[in-house]
Amino acid sequence: MADDNDIVFLHGQFMPMSEAKISPMDRGFLFGDGIYEVVPSYDAKLVGFGLHIERMQNGLDAIGIKLNMGVDDWRNIAQNLIEKNGKGNLGLYFHVSRGADVKRFHAFPDNIQPTVFAYAFTIPAPPIADKSKVKQYSVTSTEDLRWKRCQIKSTSLLGNVMHFQQGREAGVDETILYNQRDELTEASACNVFIVKNDVIMTPPLDNQLLPGITRNMVLDILRKDGTLQIQERPISMTEVHAADELWLTSSSKEIAPVVELDGQPVGNGRVGDIWQLAQTLYSANKHNY
Ligand code: PDD
Repeated sequence: MADDNDIVFLHGQFMPMSEAKISPMDRGFLFGDGIYEVVPSYDAKLVGFGLHIERMQNGLDAIGIKLNMGVDDWRNIAQNLIEKNGKGNLGLYFHVSRGADVKRFHAFPDNIQPTVFAYAFTIPAPPIADKSKVKQYSVTSTEDLRWKRCQIKSTSLLGNVMHFQQGREAGVDETILYNQRDELTEASACNVFIVKNDVIMTPPLDNQLLPGITRNMVLDILRKDGTLQIQERPISMTEVHAADELWLTSSSKEIAPVVELDGQPVGNGRVGDIWQLAQTLYSANKHNY
């Protein structure tokens, strides 16, 4: 998945991808004026569904898109996409743009219908909490040159796309980002955690990063477990470079261990024990969200 035969949801209906068309006057197309979500589903079991829909609603409220759809409507679309396209490891993509106008004009138009699009795509199997089997990630780092509203999960992703591509061109998997004070923000499509002396740390939520659902769940699961100390606080890049472990989190990756940063090994250059503990707990508890 995904190909032209897949069944997608657009303008209130399910249809093959090949029949799904939007207007070139759609503000999602012209301005990136919209909000999106990616929800993981494993064998038809959704992870963090309510949390994802709540974040989407916060984003829609933040940019003034009025949409008359609740969590049950979205769940119904999700279940239909899973039924029509097969189970397996899926990312469910939900996209709401402000809609199609008759002209290109920056101001929010009155009385247009938001465009709602959803489809399913294959994501990797969730990581097994085994240090010897998990994919090991390499990353680079660069100054975060995106906008100052990164808490909104906007479809305007050019800044993220350019940072992701920087990593690609450097031959690594992701690009982690820091602000002008040399503090970690997040990565181009993931949140970031570090571990030092058995303390797990991640930057606090503010306008510099997306409030990741996986981040949220990892913090909640680890706090409930209570074995390790957790800190949400600003983290300097000096601390990132000196970390014992470095992780990326996202809906399609869960907790991804990073073993190389800017060409240097992270810690001892091997996947760490705390990653193994965190992913074990995450795998055991993720379906409670
Ligand atoms: N990316 N930060 C950014 C900038 C992201 O794009 C994402 C998700 C995350 C992690 O959020 P979550 O845990 O809610 O998936 C953090 C998605 C998957 C994407 O754009 O494809």
